[in-house]
Amino acid sequence: MGTAPGSDGQGTGEPPVAHVTVEPLGIVLDVQPGETLIQAAWRHGYRWPTICGGGGSCGLCYIELDDGDDAFLPPDATERSAMAMLFASMKPERLARCRLACCARPVRDTTVTKRGVWRERPGQTPL
Ligand code: FES
Repeated sequence: MGTAPGSDGQGTGEPPVAHVTVEPLGIVLDVQPGETLIQAAWRHGYRWPTICGGGGSCGLCYIELDDGDDAFLPPDATERSAMAMLFASMKPERLARCRLACCARPVRDTTVTKRGVWRERPGQTPL
């Protein structure tokens, strides 16, 4: 009886490393140790824009940081490379405020902006 840890939005029992507010939806996600932001959203039952399924290659998951880039671990080489390739036309000052939600691991409470996040309900389809 019961559910697997992390499958019900309640986490693994470990204290979250961060609470991330996602605007404009206004939801707050508790992020467990080792989780990326998109993994936390999925665990909470939210759908997040993606084509690659969290593989770091489509760029659709990108977030805008509303509260400083020190709220996440620094991007690794894979994420830096993907961002540079996918967003080559983005102005550098905007690019510096963006991360891939499938790669970004928060280290403190923060707020990000991501349009297109929605909670899946039975029978509901995205617009
Ligand atoms: S989900 Fe595709 S790059 Fe993050």
